Amino acid sequence: MRIAMTGSSGLIGSTLVRHLTGTGHEVTRVVRSHTDRKKKGFEIRWSPDRGEIDAAGLEGHEAVIHLAGENIASGRWTRKKKEQILKSRQEGTQLLARTLAGLKHPPKVLLSASAVGYYGNRPPGIKVDEGTPAGNGFLARVSMEWERATRAAVDAGIRVAHMRFGMVLSRKGGALATMLPLFKLGLGGRIGRGRQMMSWIARDEIPHVVDFLLEREDLSGPVNIVAPAPVNNEEFTRTLGRILRRPTPFPLPGPIARVVLGEMAEELLLGGNQTLPKKLLESECRFRWPHLEKALRHELNKEDGHR
Ligand SMILES: NC(=O)c1ccc[n+]([C@@H]2O[C@H](COP(=O)([O-])OP(=O)(O)OC[C@H]3O[C@@H](n4cnc5c(N)ncnc54)[C@H](OP(=O)(O)O)[C@@H]3O)[C@@H](O)[C@H]2O)c1
Repeated sequence: MRIAMTGSSGLIGSTLVRHLTGTGHEVTRVVRSHTDRKKKGFEIRWSPDRGEIDAAGLEGHEAVIHLAGENIASGRWTRKKKEQILKSRQEGTQLLARTLAGLKHPPKVLLSASAVGYYGNRPPGIKVDEGTPAGNGFLARVSMEWERATRAAVDAGIRVAHMRFGMVLSRKGGALATMLPLFKLGLGGRIGRGRQMMSWIARDEIPHVVDFLLEREDLSGPVNIVAPAPVNNEEFTRTLGRILRRPTPFPLPGPIARVVLGEMAEELLLGGNQTLPKKLLESECRFRWPHLEKALRHELNKEDGHR
């Protein structure tokens, strides 16, 4: 299959490019600036800021995977940062969707990233799935606008799936990679009271789920990409400490997190939701890493439990 991808240099994108090219697909990276020569192979340019995209270069692709957006977890949520987070997704997605809709040969499918942040913070014990309406807060608003921005593609008859990712477990980037140094030093601990839910997905599960979404023509609209067994922050902390064979004695008190990180702490650290992958389970998508301990052991190369 010929597949075009935005955000291909990111955590999820680089995992997907490796997988898709390794399994015989041809991937065109839709990039903001040319990368190094070796990677240049199939590359086209876009500038979401300026509303420019190489439309001719997008012709002839059967699928488009859209991951691009200003990183959500790096840097404090100042007014400017929040604007970049929202604008990069809203305007970038609109530009892409409009362009795909206007192609002579539009792709059959657009897999567009979104996040379980769509559901907002929910109290422990409340489960959410694709049928649950959007929640409150900044990330819920961003996710809503991000999904809405694909409208032109939907109207043009392109199958659009909104990949509502949970926290991607990777030792190379994202939340887990940020926690690892402290945990390895035995300085890890739960955040706040530790009851907030964490909906996660193993990094190596994503290629398999994306293959599934590419193939299953009956799947469109929101699709939660999370493991079927979310945990609370306390369980996550204990599990990670056990795998690393380190104590986790130092909780990060909620008030301190709030002072240091402001609104970002409330949505990314102290809040959360218990998201279930209802559509994937109903479609009989088999998870390779449905449980946290095995997923973490796999990602951290601790599968025999003794290292
Ligand atoms: N990782 C997670 O745990 C997680 C969870 C939920 C949702 N998501 C969402 O899934 C998508 C992919 O996640 P990821 O972890 O791979 O993200 P990432 O590592 O931050 O990569 C995102 C990519 O987007 C492009 N980008 C960065 N800033 C941009 C801007 N201002 N405007 C346009 N493009 C920009 C970059 O690619 P180029 O430089 O090649 O353009 C970058 O590599 C993101 O939109 C993210 O919000 C991720």
